[in-house]
Amino acid sequence: MKSKELRQKFLKFFEDRGHRIIPSASLVPSESVDLAGTQRVLFTTAGMHPLVPYLLGQPHPLGKRLVNVQKCLRTDDIDQVGDSVHNTFFEMLGNWSLGDPASPDLPRGEAGGIGQGGYGKVEAISWSYDFLINHLKLDAKRIYVSVFAGDDDAPFDQESFDIWLKLGMPESHIFKYGKKDNWWGPVGPTGPCGPDTEMFFDINPSSGPVDPSQDPNRFVEIWNDVFMEYDRKIKNQKAKSKNLTEITSSGYEYVPLKQKNVDTGMGLERMLAVVNQAPSIYETDVFLPLLKQIEELSAAFNVKSSRIVADHIRSSIFLIADGVTPSNVERGYILRRLIRRSIRHTSLLGINKDFLSDLVKIVVKTYGDFYPNLVEFQNSIIDVLQKEESKFKKALANGIKQFEKIKGDITSRDAFNLYQNFGFPIELTVELAGENNKKVDMVSFEKELKAHQDLSRQASQKTKGGLAVQSDKAAKLHTATHLLHQALRDVLGHHVHQTGSHITDERLRFDFSHHSKMTDEQLKKTEDIVNQKIQANLKVHKKVVPKAAADEMGAIGLFDEKYGDLVKVYYIGENDKIESAYSKEFCGGPHAQSTGTLGHFKIIKEESLGANVRRIYATIR
Ligand code: SER
Repeated sequence: MKSKELRQKFLKFFEDRGHRIIPSASLVPSESVDLAGTQRVLFTTAGMHPLVPYLLGQPHPLGKRLVNVQKCLRTDDIDQVGDSVHNTFFEMLGNWSLGDPASPDLPRGEAGGIGQGGYGKVEAISWSYDFLINHLKLDAKRIYVSVFAGDDDAPFDQESFDIWLKLGMPESHIFKYGKKDNWWGPVGPTGPCGPDTEMFFDINPSSGPVDPSQDPNRFVEIWNDVFMEYDRKIKNQKAKSKNLTEITSSGYEYVPLKQKNVDTGMGLERMLAVVNQAPSIYETDVFLPLLKQIEELSAAFNVKSSRIVADHIRSSIFLIADGVTPSNVERGYILRRLIRRSIRHTSLLGINKDFLSDLVKIVVKTYGDFYPNLVEFQNSIIDVLQKEESKFKKALANGIKQFEKIKGDITSRDAFNLYQNFGFPIELTVELAGENNKKVDMVSFEKELKAHQDLSRQASQKTKGGLAVQSDKAAKLHTATHLLHQALRDVLGHHVHQTGSHITDERLRFDFSHHSKMTDEQLKKTEDIVNQKIQANLKVHKKVVPKAAADEMGAIGLFDEKYGDLVKVYYIGENDKIESAYSKEFCGGPHAQSTGTLGHFKIIKEESLGANVRRIYATIR
């Protein structure tokens, strides 16, 4: 079975059962998700992630039953990519019920029925099982499941246990696990979460029933039905107002959610491998053409490097298509690491010719039907990758020479020097060290990196906050910059974030991530919004709050930087309530006191500053 067919089968199965198909959200989480209290996470890591506001109770415009295929990125296991199960970018197939029982005016759907209302465990589990054995034709005898065993926060999930029995699952295939294995979420420190029931497939049924957790190599987890019934919150209100960052895990409580949700997730790549009896996710149609091309280009082929290149390039392409550009901080730094690591492995493979455009074209061909933005941005994706490649190639040759000069283990100084002066992501140093039987002093390196990032933050806050010119006009232009930033997000989307800013007495200059030239209409709309906010004479306020609290309130700005515990947030709104403010930014000031004094806002020029970064010049008069 090909990926295309699996996606279609899944969507159709749930559509036939009253679900509406929603498109995949961006890999860059939108602000509404941050605002809903999950706190900012760098990437979309699960299908439920963009749905957080709706899991918390906000009505979804398409109703209570949703289904989709969501692109996701998890980089926690980046070092293990190259074996047969780890990868960074993946697609998650998921179905949701937002609230059970259904509202009184909607009939509650029965298993197999086509109701419109929410549903609970019976439907969720029965449908999962039906899909696996009747639609994907998996051998029922090779399916094992687990349910939540119960603890102080929530009871044993007897209901799921009984449902499985009733569906014919032998008791010897049902296992009870605790929170570590059978509880899902929240995405950040707080937010919706709950007990789950997981389904495993026995890929090597050599002996009788065994506990999947005792023999992980024999089982693949194929589906996870989460019953999101709790909101993990910070327990102590006093602590909350004081310093969110100090809360430890014991400082949380599990509050029952207003509505009981179902959230399921099935990894597309894994399921493809299982249904096709492929030895790994890399032997499925989403990877094979890419790996074949890598093998053809290689002078010294090895499996691990080819998988690393395929995985990292695929992730990078999807990230760039969603507006991320390589940089030295947060999202951009992860992208840079993915690109640089894959390039380094192409040299290990002996690939000397230009390979990036070939690989991009293959990925676009594999996914373009389902993710049309890849087709749209194919050229700028190639451009971003090639620019990063040429930057890195220069650095790499010199850096390796430098590395070879190091005697003995790698001190944090050495590692930092390689990072700072030769553009070596830390895992590259670690990998090289491993190949040469050297150790890296990671603990000190992390400290050194943090100190360095703090210093550059202060420096950038000085230029950003202190401004090049300290005049009234500059303060007004600075306030206009905040309005512009938010207006651009309103008009172009949440992938827009500031990458630079410079203000003189005459004009503002604002750099931001965006993939294409703005149309005249978009420019006009942006200008109009800023001018409306000026006419509304909104007040400019400032508040000093713990970083985590500012994150929770959805403050934007150069959040790629590491800030100290307390940060200054400037917010612009009708009253002094930060929650309802139009714009909220981390910032050092100074600013105008209200927007009414700014004058008329006009964009003078919009231009490209390289692939995926745009620059706007504007004035106020
Ligand atoms: N959120 C759950 C997971 O990621 C189910 O979608 O597995």
